[in-house]
Formats: sequence, structure tokens, C-alpha cells
Amino acid sequence: MLINEKVIPEKQLAAEVACDYIKDGMIVGLGTGTSAEFAVRKLGKLVREGLSIRGIPTSYRTKKLAEAEGIPLIDFSESMFIDITIDGADEIDENLNMIKGGGAALLKEKIVASVSRKEIIVGSKTKMVDHLGSFPLPVEVITFGWQVVFNQLESLQGNPDLRLNNGQPLVTDQGNYIVDCHFKKISNPKLLENQINMIPGVVENGLFINLCTKMILADEEKLIIKERKTR
Ligand code: 5RP
Repeated sequence: MLINEKVIPEKQLAAEVACDYIKDGMIVGLGTGTSAEFAVRKLGKLVREGLSIRGIPTSYRTKKLAEAEGIPLIDFSESMFIDITIDGADEIDENLNMIKGGGAALLKEKIVASVSRKEIIVGSKTKMVDHLGSFPLPVEVITFGWQVVFNQLESLQGNPDLRLNNGQPLVTDQGNYIVDCHFKKISNPKLLENQINMIPGVVENGLFINLCTKMILADEEKLIIKERKTR
């Protein structure tokens, strides 16, 4: 998109528009991923210009970036709620349900989303889908007995893969593994979310149902904004 003769990446534009909703005194959830990072950088700039906020990061990576940007950080010992979280998504459907966790931060992202009064999802229009499931659904599992969980996910027709990093199992911020499931088309996201979370050893999965309150996506020409009235 051309803004003042300068090409702004779509996800940056969406992220910076979302930052307009952040006001003095707010507690802000800081998402993870390339789209959310644009918001963290913009908030850092606003903080240096005088905006007074406190952030709760959703990953070690975001924590480091927020610290470098000079955003004051807190944890849940200081507040049990968050005013607004700005985060990205791997897929989002017309009901604003999502798959998240491509960046392996789904557990903290879901905790943060669950206590956020507003959860603004930003990114490029390519994240919009008719049905969730083309993007592999991440499931965070404890390392003990991960093979047992893997087997159960196979029984659910999840075609699971253990996520690797340089040939070794990827280890999350919490010391767990990620199993990516290829459901292709998820017809009942809420049911599947519950079924997966019932498997002993599953910590959380990347289906985010009824958590997004506003979606701000951008394509080459326009912003696509959609809001949920009730949660
Ligand atoms: C990290 C996430 C990210 O929000 C998701 O992967 C989208 O990332 P990006 O903005 O880089 O496309 O869920 O766990």
C-alpha cells in the first residue's frame, strides 16, 4: 500500500492502525510474530514520545524486543486483566475464530487473549480463510509421553508432525514440544479444541475461539476491519 509515496508492508499498516486504540494508562498484551512485532515497534516509538503503558509479552522473543524498545513490562502478579492485546494469526475465519501458534507462542498467547478486554488481530489479508485447517494446527504437549499424545492425535485424523528446529524437536518457552496437525478442513473448531485439550499431556492447542474482538487486515488497496460485538 502506498502511503505518502512510501510502500508500507500490509502487516505493518494493520499493526500501526491497531496501535491507535492504545491510550495512556493501558495494560497492553504484546503478541508474537512478524505482524505483532510491527505493533511492538510502533508502541515503543509512542512510549519514547510520552505514551504511558505497561506491556505483558506473549513470548521470550517479544519480551526482548519490548525491552529493547523501552516498553515497561509487568506480569500477572501486577494485573489480572489486560486492556488491549495486539497479536497476529495464522488463519482467521469469518466468525473471527483463528489458528495461532505458527511462532510456537500459542500457550502464552491464549492466556493473554483470555484476560484481554479487547483482542485485536492484525496482519495481511492472506490470513483470511473460509474454513480453518489448511494451516497446520499447533498443539503444545509436554515432553513426557509426547508419543502417546501423537498417537491420539492420529486417531483424531490429525496427521500429526512433531515440529523440528535444526533437526531436533522444537522446545517452546515453557519447555514443551509442538505437534502440528494437518486436519485440512476443521468443520467444528470449538468441538475440536475441546477434544484435543482432553488428551492427557496436551497443554494447549492453537484454536482460538471467541477470543478475537477486532480483526484489522490489510491488502494492497484497503483495510479490512471486522468486529465482534459480544464475546
Ligand atoms: C505465534 C503466532 C503468530 O501470531 C502467527 O504465527 C502469525 O505470525 P505472523 O504475523 O508472523 O504471520 O500465533 O505463535
